[in-house]
Amino acid sequence: MLVRFIDPEGREHVVEGEVGESAMRCATRALIPGVIGECGGAMACATCHCYAAPPAGATLPEPAPQERDMIDGCIDTRPTSRLTCQVVLEPALAGITFTVPASQV
Ligand code: FES
Repeated sequence: MLVRFIDPEGREHVVEGEVGESAMRCATRALIPGVIGECGGAMACATCHCYAAPPAGATLPEPAPQERDMIDGCIDTRPTSRLTCQVVLEPALAGITFTVPASQV
């Protein structure tokens, strides 16, 4: 399945994502600028923060309380902010677009 990332410079990257992996793993495997995934997906760093664009992004389940708390501690948050380590890729999300916050260079 294809996943689209817009990096902090506005460049588009289309990456082949694996069903069952997190969007953070997909991004770090593809070396998307600004997505670090420093804690490995333990919801302890927020270096995987991205905006999940609708329409596909709007179908994601609501963030769990711990994810919400971490997002609240990020800068440049938006209603579409997500920790990509908590987004598991599934076929229904094919074509989803994640934008890396400009401040996350
Ligand atoms: Fe650390 Fe997502 S990788 S919070």
